Amino acid sequence: MSKVLFVNACMREADSRTLKLCREYLLSKEQVEEVDLTRLYLIPFNAEMVHKRIQLQEAKQWDDPLFDLSRQFCNAEEIVIGAPYWDLSFPAALKVYIEHVSVCDIVFRFTNHGTYEGLCKARHLTYISTSGGFIESDEDLGYEYMCGIAKMFGIPEVRYVIAQGLDIEGTDIEAQMDKARASFPAQ
Ligand SMILES: Cc1cc2nc3c(=O)[nH]c(=O)nc-3n(C[C@H](O)[C@H](O)[C@H](O)COP(=O)(O)O)c2cc1C
Repeated sequence: MSKVLFVNACMREADSRTLKLCREYLLSKEQVEEVDLTRLYLIPFNAEMVHKRIQLQEAKQWDDPLFDLSRQFCNAEEIVIGAPYWDLSFPAALKVYIEHVSVCDIVFRFTNHGTYEGLCKARHLTYISTSGGFIESDEDLGYEYMCGIAKMFGIPEVRYVIAQGLDIEGTDIEAQMDKARASFPAQ
């Protein structure tokens, strides 16, 4: 059984339909470590933080707590991200988390040709979401962005689970949730 990292960006917490799907999907997993972005209150990177991080990178102080989230992400054998569809993508807390994770020489490195080489262990990332309306996958900029990040970090496969139309009057919400459940990846 692989070590799963669950990144929880389901900001409505107990009321979140996205979180419900995530918890159901994770039932089949044995070792789940959770990063709860609703409680972490991460700060977006500012000048001081960027400066400090560069100093630590140059000193190769990889055990500094500033790199904890990045090292945790890098070492996970499987990544599950739960994030509702907000404003065509996902909650800002998830973008801020990615800023903290995206550290050169931990999750990726630059090659001599100036291209990225991913360093993450995970072989796949499962992106679980729900939306108020009905959307095409290429309109989900959160999913598209996460595909780019996975490529940069060296995660070869991104799986997409979404329940749509949950805020449209007359939608059979349970039927939409069931459709999403039916698309849970087998492993
Ligand atoms: C701040 C915010 C922004 C949203 N933006 C969109 C949107 O752009 N398109 C859409 O279809 N639904 C949008 N919705 C509706 C959510 O996608 C929908 O209610 C979703 O199921 C929420 O997930 P949750 O139950 O896990 O919180 C938005 C909801 C909120 C609270």
